[in-house]
This record gives sequence, C-alpha cells and structure tokens, in this order.
Amino acid sequence: MPIFDHFDFLAPFYETVIPPKVPQTLLTLADLPTQGALLDIGGGTGRVAQFLTGYASSVVVADLSLPMLAEAQRKDALLSVAAHSERLPFADGAFARIVMVDALHHVIDQRATAAELWRTLQPGGRIVIEEPDVRTLTVKVLALAEKAALMRSHFLTPTQIAALFEHTDASIRIEASGFNAWVIVEKT
Ligand SMILES: C[S@@+](CC[C@H](N)C(=O)[O-])C[C@H]1O[C@@H](n2cnc3c(N)ncnc32)[C@H](O)[C@@H]1O
Repeated sequence: MPIFDHFDFLAPFYETVIPPKVPQTLLTLADLPTQGALLDIGGGTGRVAQFLTGYASSVVVADLSLPMLAEAQRKDALLSVAAHSERLPFADGAFARIVMVDALHHVIDQRATAAELWRTLQPGGRIVIEEPDVRTLTVKVLALAEKAALMRSHFLTPTQIAALFEHTDASIRIEASGFNAWVIVEKT
C-alpha cells in the first residue's frame, strides 16, 4: 500500500474540485430504476451515488479511502462500506446494478476487480464502468499528469476493459461521448 493516498488528502475538497451533477448518461446506461440494490464501487464521497438513491432499493458506496467515505456518510440514504474492489465483502449476486465511475484506472488489480464485480452481480443485473476515454488526446495528457503526480493510475481502453470480462458469458457493449467512455456488462 502507498504511504500517501491522494484521495485521503483530497477528500474534504473533492467535490469543490469536481462538482456533483446529475449523472444522466449513467442513469440511462445502468437501466435505472431497479428493484434491487446498487453498488457504487470506488464511489468516494458519494458524489455520483447521491443522485442514485431514488433509483434502487438501497445504494452502497464502497471505497478504500476512509476520508472519502466520511464525506459519503454525510449524505442521506447512502450506505458506506470500507472495501477494496479486489476483495469485496459482499455475497455472490448481492447487487442488481454496479457502477464504477472514474475509479478503475486507480485500482491496483483491475482483473481481480472485474472478477469481484461479476461475482457480486445478480443474474439479470448490469455493471456500468465509466472511465475517461484514454483514446482521446486530452485524457492521454491527463494520464501523463496523474503519472507525474505519482497517482499509480493505469488507464485501459474501453476494449481492454471489456476484455477483463472475456472469461464470462457477459453481454458487453461500449459507448463513448466526449472525454468519457462506458463499458456496459450484462449478466443473463
Ligand atoms: C477519482 S475518485 C472517483 C470517486 C467517485 N467514483 C466519483 O466519481 O466521484 C477514485 C476513487 O477510487 C477509490 N479507489 C481506488 N482504488 C480502489 C480500490 N482498489 N478499491 C476501492 N476503491 C478504490 C479512491 O479511494 C477514490 O475514492
């Protein structure tokens, strides 16, 4: 584990730097509302999850940064869980929807993370992974900046993200708009 965690430090002003806004594309791509539970993994301060509470039976924000989770705890109706995406403390099939926004490039083991997302997704459920689209020049520059800031980021293209699920029978599609890309993974 790194001695210095950027998100622990950024937590109190994270939403000043990246202001919350209704995640309209995510709501559509995640096919919300759902009757079941929703997990926002790497959900940080609940910046995104705060807009999802009316759309699922419960909304869980899981993150490894306790200061980020402390901010999520201030928000109504969010359940906060300290967890690594590589080893989720949830039962098989616990969630009808799983979203992961701007977090996959920060995790150390992306393959183990994908396996855990798949394990904890219920049949008929859907995972939506939103990432900066590293195929664009702007995000390539961002990737270099994060490397310079020693953030250990490892950006994957949407196709590489989809390939993390290739051992499953998932139905997968990719969407992209502007600087973002979404990988939508469905379990039949
Ligand atoms: C850029 S922030 C995004 C937070 C939130 N998804 C959002 O869009 O506002 C990335 C988050 O991923 C979390 N993170 C990084 N690696 C993780 C891991 N292996 N397991 C869980 N969370 C992780 C960080 O602590 C941080 O809160």
